[in-house]
Amino acid sequence: MTDLAIRVGSLTLKNPVLTASGCFGYGLEYDDFFDVAELGGICTKGLSLKPRPGNPPERICETPAGMLNAIGLANVGVEAFCRDKLPILRQRGVGVVANIFASSVADFVTIAERLEREEGILAVELNVSCPNVTEGGIEFGKDARLCAEVTRAVRAATRLPVWVKMSPEAGDIAAVARACEEAGADAITAINTIRGMSIDVEQKKLRLQNRTGGFSGPALRPIALRIVWEIAGAVSIPVIAIGGISTTRDAIEFMLAGATAIQVGTANFADPSAAKRILDGLRTHCEKRGISASALIGAAR
Ligand SMILES: Cc1cc2nc3c(=O)[nH]c(=O)nc-3n(C[C@H](O)[C@H](O)[C@H](O)COP(=O)(O)O)c2cc1C
Repeated sequence: MTDLAIRVGSLTLKNPVLTASGCFGYGLEYDDFFDVAELGGICTKGLSLKPRPGNPPERICETPAGMLNAIGLANVGVEAFCRDKLPILRQRGVGVVANIFASSVADFVTIAERLEREEGILAVELNVSCPNVTEGGIEFGKDARLCAEVTRAVRAATRLPVWVKMSPEAGDIAAVARACEEAGADAITAINTIRGMSIDVEQKKLRLQNRTGGFSGPALRPIALRIVWEIAGAVSIPVIAIGGISTTRDAIEFMLAGATAIQVGTANFADPSAAKRILDGLRTHCEKRGISASALIGAAR
């Protein structure tokens, strides 16, 4: 039996394959495709203090080699998540990473404190990098001082591991990651989407109501890989890679660059079993070579 387990700080995940926030619902939607509990974990859609309807449509469009989204963090809110979704995930043994979002440090803390009271959460992932909201989001993520402030406050408010999700639009992203590490982050996740646009040429109209949207998918991968490489060389806490991962080879590429684990995002929309397929491929890859998954981490550095 190949050992796929990996350690993310104090946490042991059964394998390094997770799903990315906003690209896998609350996990329960994928029941018809495979047993989600087989994954290393799932990241929830970004949870806010109160439910949010998100932005008006159109809020998604396809582009070559990727997609644009301006969902605007539509979600059921932390309370409904804890009441309606988490008990089912817990019962099924799904590892849950709660992705959280707020426009103030105080609200980040309140959400983390609410989650702290629940069993069955592996970690909180701070979304300080959403490009699709007017308050908070990316404005936190671009600023090392603000990112560190949010991290420090949440760190002090919860015993749960704190992961901080980086924005590729931060100028010196390694400096932001280092500031979060110093503020007590247990892991860095990278990357969130990059802002993009699309225009319908026939109608001479922007394809997204929000004008811009977060660009994700295969075209993001080389950028994400470069950033993960950079961050992994700058911090000593684990880095969890996200960005255009749709095959096992993509996942391995990120691990060789220094990622401890990976998250599958946009690929789920084209293939709802993408994460399971990537996990099975990783198991075969390790079995054939007689190595553990953790042996891949940073092996190309
Ligand atoms: C439709 C959609 C919704 C997303 N919602 C969130 C979110 O709520 N919180 C978050 O941190 N990231 C969110 N993301 C970003 C993804 O988790 C991921 O970081 C990004 O899409 C890059 O990975 P990918 O190319 O594999 O999709 C969302 C992405 C998409 C496409």
